[in-house]
Amino acid sequence: MLVLGIETSCDETGVALYSQGRGLESHALYSQVALHAEYGGVVPELASRDHVRKLVPLLRTVLADAGRRKEEIQGVAYTAGPGLIGALLTGACAARGLAWSLGVPVLGIHHMEAHLLAPMLEESPPTPPLVALLVSGGHTLLVRVSAVGDYELLGETRDDAVGEAFDKTAKLLGLGYPGGPALARIAVDGNPARHHFPRPMTDRPGLDFSFSGLKTYALHTFRNGPADKDARADIARAFEEAIVDTLVIKCRRALDETQLADLVVAGGVSANQRLRGALSRLAAERGGRVYYPRPEFCTDNGAMVALTGALRMQSGERDDVACRVRPRWPLGELSRPDD
Ligand code: KG4
Ligand code: ZN
Repeated sequence: MLVLGIETSCDETGVALYSQGRGLESHALYSQVALHAEYGGVVPELASRDHVRKLVPLLRTVLADAGRRKEEIQGVAYTAGPGLIGALLTGACAARGLAWSLGVPVLGIHHMEAHLLAPMLEESPPTPPLVALLVSGGHTLLVRVSAVGDYELLGETRDDAVGEAFDKTAKLLGLGYPGGPALARIAVDGNPARHHFPRPMTDRPGLDFSFSGLKTYALHTFRNGPADKDARADIARAFEEAIVDTLVIKCRRALDETQLADLVVAGGVSANQRLRGALSRLAAERGGRVYYPRPEFCTDNGAMVALTGALRMQSGERDDVACRVRPRWPLGELSRPDD
């Protein structure tokens, strides 16, 4: 089954073609980063308008790259939530209009399930049961994955998501948007011994997170310390190490509690090299494996939506004619594709 995937939940327009036989046939992405940069964050209305502008050209690109005609598309999958309501609606309407005109089924996909399944686009895909750490700009989730579609929430953030904490801390250090990659870049040259940041909520049992205090800690350290040329890099390094350590501690705990060995790490922050290194060491130490998407599929993309759509539509799942999007959508409400 040849499935077209459309991602428009935030500030990336992603379109891709996936088929069960050939795997990922083509994908195209347009990032709106430059559009939002001058505002220091995503402006929802601008995001929606830009998705509308980019969807059709990207669709033409993926068809041409795969050597396919649009009449060959057998199903259309789009991100139905969670995300920005206006942005979600642009993808939903494009997907539904196209599916209706082609006479093929359409299915709304959960954005975090798509992130979770993204490592399945790689050469040696993970197989459940496993623990997934999903770290994006809007979510921080630890999930027990018993099968595709069978998810149990083990822990989540009580305030800021990890990516959000990166973005806010980067902003107060005067770095650009999106802050995660910018902060990670300067952290490389930071002195790890200069500051020690707290590891929030690691001194008590449980798998929930809290990251909002770290940005405040960074702000105080920045304001009260000397403004030498290394000040930003040293704070970035301490912040990044605190985040990575905290995530590693919680992953170890989740693997212990579930008695599982394998870990999937996905979502924008899974592109972070220090985090990848630390989690690979954790998995190796326990005789398990850690699976990531390739860096370009860590952040939002159409490929993960096309893959998730193919997995679910293959077993007959489709939506009725109502056009639904869900800005808020708990992952635990999903069911297995064949249920
Ligand atoms: O998954 P994603 O593209 O969008 C959401 O679904 O939210 O994640 C975007 C987030 C942003 O907060 C960005 O700063 C963060 O991922 N991010 C990173 C890195 N690359 C992206 N954070 C830390 N280190 C990185 N290398
Ligand atoms: Zn995302």
